[in-house]
Amino acid sequence: MQLDALIDGLPKAELHMHIEGSLEPAMMLALARRNGIDLPWADVESIQAAYRFRNLQDFLDLYYQGMNVLRTPEDFYDLTAAYLARARADGVRHVELFFDPQGHTSRGVPFDHVIEGLWQALTEAERDHGLSSHLILCFLRHLSEDDAFETLKEAEPYRDRFIGVGLDSSELGHPPTKFARVFARARDMGLKLCAHAGEEGPPDYVREALDVLGIDRLDHGNRAMEAPDLINRLAADGICLTVCPLSNLRLCVTDRLEDSPVAAMLEQGLRVTVNSDDPAYFGGGINDNLRAVARVLPLSADQVITLSRNSFLGSFLPEAEQTRHLAEIDRIAANLG
Ligand code: HPA
Ligand code: ZN
Repeated sequence: MQLDALIDGLPKAELHMHIEGSLEPAMMLALARRNGIDLPWADVESIQAAYRFRNLQDFLDLYYQGMNVLRTPEDFYDLTAAYLARARADGVRHVELFFDPQGHTSRGVPFDHVIEGLWQALTEAERDHGLSSHLILCFLRHLSEDDAFETLKEAEPYRDRFIGVGLDSSELGHPPTKFARVFARARDMGLKLCAHAGEEGPPDYVREALDVLGIDRLDHGNRAMEAPDLINRLAADGICLTVCPLSNLRLCVTDRLEDSPVAAMLEQGLRVTVNSDDPAYFGGGINDNLRAVARVLPLSADQVITLSRNSFLGSFLPEAEQTRHLAEIDRIAANLG
């Protein structure tokens, strides 16, 4: 199909991908073997069979269990290098990766094991393939704000290796306001601010993320579509939303792929992007997500091009870099006739 070829060929930035969520079952088994860790599953099929989620928490329970196989810098390197190879094959030119340090330090894995492994793979991808990247350190919202402060402190020696902070994990019952002080501190450090909001949580959580945390980018944001005042504000302020259609489907945020808010957000003039979230758990990478929504919503070629443009406009790349990528998209668009 022609739209699929366009999706494959367009340069794109992926802005919502948790590196721990890119851990494919085969690598989970290999790392368990390498590190002498017992898993409750013997093969790829039984791992995949466990990936049936009724909601976000069902997924998170498995996500934390899966990341338990990640122990050494080499593990984090292998994980990241494998994701970057797949992203490159999808035409991804720039990635802004979430990582969950508390998911590792809470198990006794030192922070520097995590960051050194990630960093080596990211540096090599840029050097060898021109694939640029930023890291975004996420706080786990089911833990306390004090715990987030401790994590930020631990990360301070590596300040130049991450561009921002994010907020993820169990949304309901953990509103953005819980993290007001640590986000203020991150802002003072010159960090960019992102937060998951409106995935399961109500529109008020999106309001808090904007008003109390002062976020630069909104992750998911589906439920903002319930509130006309939020739609108007997100559009007027050009806030980027990182929507993840296959994730939404697998976590029952939407009942059907056809209910993905991507088309409605485009129609309302929102700066929406399409992303994979946790590709190993939700059935595909960024192009799988784009192809799936393009087919069922459906999307036009112009809308697919807008998504690709939005991914760079919503990134934390310097303007000159954004302009360079946008020019390449313009050349592809012009050739479509
Ligand atoms: N939501 C919240 N936390 C997460 C997600 C998500 O989609 N993926 C990984 N951690
Ligand atoms: Zn996410």
